[in-house]
Amino acid sequence: MSDTKRQELKDFISEYMQKDNPSSYLIAVLHKAQELYGYLARETMEFISETMNVPAANIWGVATFYHYFNLTPRGKYTISVCLGTACYVKGAGEVMEAIKEELHIKEGETTKDMTFTLQEARCLGACGLAPVMMVNGKIHGDLTPKKVVEIIKEYRKKEGK
Ligand code: FES
Repeated sequence: MSDTKRQELKDFISEYMQKDNPSSYLIAVLHKAQELYGYLARETMEFISETMNVPAANIWGVATFYHYFNLTPRGKYTISVCLGTACYVKGAGEVMEAIKEELHIKEGETTKDMTFTLQEARCLGACGLAPVMMVNGKIHGDLTPKKVVEIIKEYRKKEGK
């Protein structure tokens, strides 16, 4: 952990340690840690455990219970491919396959260069544009296997890759 980030996390925790029942603020602390590091590494959870005096097993339990906590490093871009019904019937399965082939990863994985993380989603609320994927909050619609590869190449170009 970098010293600046660790200090920021420590300061954040200190505020809650003044309150009654500090361990009830564990979720807020885990959110802050994820915001700082992008994911919850084991050493980050151990640091929180020592600083808040909460057993590491409790922290692990909370971190694994909520799906919004990431336990592994994420790429700079998270690609969420919608596999909801409207997208699926319009070829989202083929789109997902094309992305996997292009990135050489499966759902839930991150490319070795830490540029992309691939995940599936269920209805991104843009069924009219099906099939759809979201890249760091930006919707891309009317996808085809060919189009999706071009979009990935554009993101790579942005990164100078
Ligand atoms: S099913 Fe894909 S956006 Fe709704």
